[in-house]
Amino acid sequence: MGTRNTEATVKSDILVTRRIPEAGLDLLREGAGVEVLPGDIEPTKQALLEKIRGRRGLLCLLTDPIDADVIAAGLGTLEVISNYAVGYDNIDVAAATAAGIPVGNTPGVLTETTADLAFSLLMSSARRIVEGAAFARAGKWRSWSPTLLLGRDVHGATLGILGMGRIGRAMARRATGFGMKIIYFDPDVEGEPDDLPGKPVSLDELAARSDFLSIHAPLNGETRGLVDARFMASMKREAILINTARGGLVDQDALVEALTDGVIGGAALDVTEPEPLPADHPLYSLPDCIIVPHLGSASVATRDRMAVMAAQNLLAGLNGERLPHCVNPEVYRGS
Ligand code: DGY
Repeated sequence: MGTRNTEATVKSDILVTRRIPEAGLDLLREGAGVEVLPGDIEPTKQALLEKIRGRRGLLCLLTDPIDADVIAAGLGTLEVISNYAVGYDNIDVAAATAAGIPVGNTPGVLTETTADLAFSLLMSSARRIVEGAAFARAGKWRSWSPTLLLGRDVHGATLGILGMGRIGRAMARRATGFGMKIIYFDPDVEGEPDDLPGKPVSLDELAARSDFLSIHAPLNGETRGLVDARFMASMKREAILINTARGGLVDQDALVEALTDGVIGGAALDVTEPEPLPADHPLYSLPDCIIVPHLGSASVATRDRMAVMAAQNLLAGLNGERLPHCVNPEVYRGS
């Protein structure tokens, strides 16, 4: 646990906004001073404002909006924010940076698990697994039929990947094994690197050529609403949109219209905006839309690894060490 004043560190006050796997909590508790907020839903903003005061470390979830007000409420004591997620769009990183507070995240450990889920959604929507299971369970299966619940072939189809980072690449590896053609759009990838499967294309081409289009980009000012009505109108009519990144990348009202009017063939969403998606949302009533409750990283092993990583980030921050996974390394400039 670091080199600097271990006693002081282990007695520091850590706030954890929800119960996370014990592997992470145990690590934090080695030093005691941990408060885990009770309950199954995110704390209110008021609760966050009250609870953050006087803490040195905050371990939060992607459901907690850690905005400038919350960060301001922690000023004076708060030394580190550790997000139990790879995505960090829930945190006002600029405000944290201005306050000199490092922000940690959990990259890498959830890559394969999230790609597994994205590929499951692709397969499920292509082969109508959810509809088929509901059909059988409802007692409607009366005979084998040449025309019952026909889906689309995955092999030989073109997968378009929007965002060729870690998870996009893991998705591409899976698709290669299934005999898919791969195209991708990622403004951060230069040229046509040999180590990436598939062909880089423009965003317009990605929309126009994909049979399945899977989103793996971060949510930020540039990507919010990227998949909008115009984008969907340029997709193939049978194309299926898969989103395991963040709901805000897709214009959801436009998606409802596109699915209702048959502009695209289907959607499979692990993420929505808001989360949870209200039970009366029109997307639930569309048979060509599968929605699951943000399960991308939801395997026992991966959630354990995320907990350990988030705890390590937090403890490093309390020890005055560089976070192993820091999203705003500029806080260390000059140190
Ligand atoms: C993340 O870590 O950002 C994922 O969305 C969690 O599944």
